[in-house]
Amino acid sequence: MKACSTMLLFLATIVWFSGLSHGNDRTGPQDYTNSSKTANLFSSPTIDTTTNLFQRKKTNKPVASPTSPSPAPGSDYVPNASTLSKLIICGYQGWFAFPGDGAPINKWKHWFSSDYDPSVSNLEVDMYPSMDEYDAADLLESNILMKDGSKAKFFSSARPNVVKKHFQWMRDYGISGVFQMRFMENMDLPKNREWKTMVLRNVKAAAESTGRVFAVSYNLAGNSINDSVLDAIKLDWMDLVDNERITESSRYIRHTGLPVLRIFGVGFKTVNVTDTKKLAELIKWFKTDAEPQYHVFLIGGVPRRWRDLTDDSREEKDWKDIYQSFHGIHPWHVGSWGTTTGFQSFYNNVIVNDAKLCAKQGILYMPTMWPGFSWHNLNEGNAQVNQIPRLGGNFMWAQAYSYVQNKNINTVWMAQFDEVDEGTAIFKVAKNKQELPAEGNWLTLDADGVALPNDWYLKLCGEAQKMLLGKIALTNKIPIKNK
Ligand SMILES: *[C@@H]1O[C@H](CO)[C@@H](O)[C@H](O)[C@H]1NC(C)=O
Ligand SMILES: *[C@@H]1O[C@H](CO)[C@@H](O)[C@H](O)[C@H]1NC(C)=O
Ligand SMILES: *[C@@H]1O[C@H](CO)[C@@H](O)[C@H](O)[C@H]1NC(C)=O
Ligand SMILES: *[C@@H]1O[C@H](CO)[C@@H](O)[C@H](O)[C@H]1NC(C)=O
Repeated sequence: MKACSTMLLFLATIVWFSGLSHGNDRTGPQDYTNSSKTANLFSSPTIDTTTNLFQRKKTNKPVASPTSPSPAPGSDYVPNASTLSKLIICGYQGWFAFPGDGAPINKWKHWFSSDYDPSVSNLEVDMYPSMDEYDAADLLESNILMKDGSKAKFFSSARPNVVKKHFQWMRDYGISGVFQMRFMENMDLPKNREWKTMVLRNVKAAAESTGRVFAVSYNLAGNSINDSVLDAIKLDWMDLVDNERITESSRYIRHTGLPVLRIFGVGFKTVNVTDTKKLAELIKWFKTDAEPQYHVFLIGGVPRRWRDLTDDSREEKDWKDIYQSFHGIHPWHVGSWGTTTGFQSFYNNVIVNDAKLCAKQGILYMPTMWPGFSWHNLNEGNAQVNQIPRLGGNFMWAQAYSYVQNKNINTVWMAQFDEVDEGTAIFKVAKNKQELPAEGNWLTLDADGVALPNDWYLKLCGEAQKMLLGKIALTNKIPIKNK
């Protein structure tokens, strides 16, 4: 009877949210069209694409000298860049932009659905970051009114000091570092690619100066993606290694002696990459066939039901071999449960068995930890604010506890440091209504009836990291006070 009701609950959990986006660069197709919200999603970009981005030229760029980390006084934790073991690593979108920020795309990205009209009707995010923490020079006014009559401002991830601020927080709160998202959609467009690479350079410099760690994560999501992306990834990686020299950074994450690379979007029914033969070839290239300097410890960002080839996973038998050919497996769990009870059920039924299988096969298993979910504005009002409540942090802590006590889990993905579009962000955001703009529908940290500080989720992530490292005792209760 008990088993039966658990199973029902479990089934309910996996069905109710199957339409969830998984962090794809949803507005990507508009990068090079001066389009309205929905136009041109499938049309070809109109800008010049004749430049061959991937000509394998070596540049004369100076090699970054390995920088030794310099932790701030009071923060003694320096993550070990030579291993994924005992790390909680945050996903980092780094996709916020505004016209004039210095990035070649020169438009609003991700705060608003419109390129040039930063009005409340175009708002795309549910959480308002603590904008007073950034240099005024790194912010741009929108058309949204604040309560004092001034205009709400927003930051750009293309600005080095914005990214540096985020990494200083990671250092100050004992957070290890990030996987920097590299969305492949429209990567063949030079301006778009340069913008994304600017942010990656910011991440590299900030990780080096704060002693944090970083690695690249490709993302295959996006409407215009097809199997040709598998060739593009190879060329892009060679360019990052040869010309950006990212794997030479002392803070680039390595595991078993190899630079770590994740590819998200493998095997999802919603991702338009279906050629398993070509995919197997790419995986083999990264593992053995490429010249040695391109070899990586390869992590597959896969559907939550990868092991059973069901639900969000493609179901053809070939995918089983694809999944199990990765060095590491990271299932995307955002939206896979809506309550702590739902989590327990999913954990017992899926995650425990995933982790067991991976341990048996010698595959690194990295589950997703996430604080809650809200995409009211992104979803044009068709979802309620605070759709999956954070419960003052208890929702996330239940996951931290279960993951840390599982001997088959040594690495955790924290979704995501700066993701305000889907409301999973853990960085500093408005804690209550007083800190919000006068217009718009927003999620604040006190939404569940508990007053919390702006940095509450930075603190929780730092505490979870300490618990994984064994620096504090394993506990199923949040170990700090919410002041
Ligand atoms: C893009 O749209 C904006 C706002 O409608 C307009 O001012 C601008 O001239 C357009 N740019 C191009 C290149 O069409
Ligand atoms: C860092 O990790 C590597 C690989 O596991 C290990 O050999 C090394 O001793 C670790 N360094 C520190 C300072 O713990
Ligand atoms: C997938 O790609 C094919 C071409 O490779 C295209 O015809 C199709 O519309 C795409 N499907 C989706 C869902 O984007
Ligand atoms: C696949 O995507 C590439 C890159 O975006 C594009 O150039 C090509 O036309 C697409 N192929 C098909 C069949 O849609």
